[in-house]
Amino acid sequence: MTTIAIPPGMPQYDDVPRYDVAAVRADFPILGREVNGHSLVYLDSANTSHKPRQVLDVLREHYERHNANVSRSVHTLGTEATEAYEGARAKVAAFVNAPSVDEVVFTKNSTEAINIVAYAFSNASLRPDASALSAPSRGRGTDDRFRLGPGDEVVISEMEHHSNIVPWQLLCERTGATLRWFPVTDNGRLDESGLTDLVNERTKIVSLVHMSNILGTVNATSRITARVREVGALLLLDCSQSVPHMPIDVVDLDADFIVFTGHKMCGPTGIGVLWGRSELLAAMPPVFGGGSMIETVAMGGSTYAAPPARFEAGTPPIAEAVALGAAVDYLTGIGMRAIQWHEKQLTAYALDALATVPGLRIFGPEVPVGRGGTISFALGDVHPHDVGQVLDSLGVQVRVGHHCARPVCTRFGVPATTRASFYLYTTTEEIDALVAGLEQVWKVFR
Ligand code: ALA
Repeated sequence: MTTIAIPPGMPQYDDVPRYDVAAVRADFPILGREVNGHSLVYLDSANTSHKPRQVLDVLREHYERHNANVSRSVHTLGTEATEAYEGARAKVAAFVNAPSVDEVVFTKNSTEAINIVAYAFSNASLRPDASALSAPSRGRGTDDRFRLGPGDEVVISEMEHHSNIVPWQLLCERTGATLRWFPVTDNGRLDESGLTDLVNERTKIVSLVHMSNILGTVNATSRITARVREVGALLLLDCSQSVPHMPIDVVDLDADFIVFTGHKMCGPTGIGVLWGRSELLAAMPPVFGGGSMIETVAMGGSTYAAPPARFEAGTPPIAEAVALGAAVDYLTGIGMRAIQWHEKQLTAYALDALATVPGLRIFGPEVPVGRGGTISFALGDVHPHDVGQVLDSLGVQVRVGHHCARPVCTRFGVPATTRASFYLYTTTEEIDALVAGLEQVWKVFR
């Protein structure tokens, strides 16, 4: 077993689940490669994670042995592919403790999942009333909870990824509703001081990031959820950065929708998830029309399938979903609590180590509490692109830029940051390599 020294100040629990990090690393072929003559130090898992052999094998095997379209064919391959696709849905549902498998809608990614909800709102809002429908049926969007217009409000926060900002700006432009947001405090936490004013009787939906992709902040949502329930609004949580890194239970979270994406959790690109409460998905109008999402089609009008099919028009990303199921098996085999604990220790270690780098300023919580293993920083006034380039020359891969969360950069008065992000395969040695690289950058540019 590879152990990580528990950093000073961290609780020394005996019952903490652990795993063999070296054995885990051996599952990821890419971690064995070199970059610019150095061993790869991959600190960009918030951007996309690497894929273990167990996932890559399932992806290849699907195409080599079971390839067929789903839900359309009675032949053997079609049945195998459908079983694998629906089996993946069941795995994902169990992974987030969804009360029903039908609450899991496969999408392309988190961005598409959020857009599906936002467009469902405007599709519902553009309907004058049910009597105008050519073929009224379930999911036609006549449910008031999805209708909004001038005077109604949508609430997000200043720490959102662009994918949880722009779809709501577009929705407000289409409908005349007003967009409002929670500010961010100086230490990178959500500022809930204006909660009662911000979330009020005019609020139709609150859409918040669960863990920030730039600050690392993990938002405790219970006060907000209580307020959302009080005013009868809906709550969507963007869990793109939390589902891969900690146990997530949709019943405990008590949201109405959560979204996440496969490629950040050891799965392939091109597959994401919209989870929604059964009763809400059943009331929600479709966004994309096409094959598989219908009940009946006639020239005069169509009726729609029940969820999740209603939201999965066309041939879905079949192999990607099956491989996501394999990623879920892989993560479950290690244990999400163990992964969360590993990253907590790495974060504590990294915060201590980064504090020794001259000129370094962290954006976001500086303590390993209520935050995950994604750390953004500035190194004096050295441009993050220069930082990234020098680190890359040493084999250290970090992300530089605004991280698709430009309002956060604006909030902290910088055009961009450098960001290091960890995952289940990250080691303290890699953090040491980052720190050594940053010291080198400082010497060159100061
Ligand atoms: N949202 C991804 C990131 O934070 C792309 O890097």
